[in-house]
Amino acid sequence: MPAKSEVIVLIGPMGVGKTTVGRKLAKSLKLPFQDTDAIIARNHGPIPEIFSNLGEDEFRKFEEAALLEALGDPGVVATGGGAVLSALNREKLKAVTVVYLSTNGRHIASRLRGGKRPLVKNGAEDWKRIYNERKPTYESVADLQIDTSGQSLATTVAEIKKRLEL
Ligand code: S3P
Repeated sequence: MPAKSEVIVLIGPMGVGKTTVGRKLAKSLKLPFQDTDAIIARNHGPIPEIFSNLGEDEFRKFEEAALLEALGDPGVVATGGGAVLSALNREKLKAVTVVYLSTNGRHIASRLRGGKRPLVKNGAEDWKRIYNERKPTYESVADLQIDTSGQSLATTVAEIKKRLEL
């Protein structure tokens, strides 16, 4: 596995902007970018179909394999919001730099539209409940927490670079 400082992993709730921030951060650092949801979709098909055909437990197994694959090379990795639920994943994350993108949730609802997230069928209500349940886990896994509330994704990228001295 590459050195801790060579892999930056973004964690945080659904819709916070992990993929967009990760892609921009990777580009500005001239590093490869990977996204665990994209790896899962590439290997197993669309995420909503995995949830409806195989169930969440099977999805979480695919997610463990995807994270392992993503952590194999230096770069920036965006994870799905539930990746930290796995003890195996949390153990793996100890070896890399973990950045938690937190939010007060005010600008999230519009990003959840489109039906691609099986766990938020009831929209903001589901999102809030899930985020509240997972907050302590995000905090315990993170090396660095960035509050993204009310700031642009570009500002978030700049703040990550500044705070990691990159
Ligand atoms: C999930 C988050 C999603 C995706 C799946 C489950 C979760 O990724 O992995 O729908 O459990 O929080 P995003 O965080 O990119 O939306």
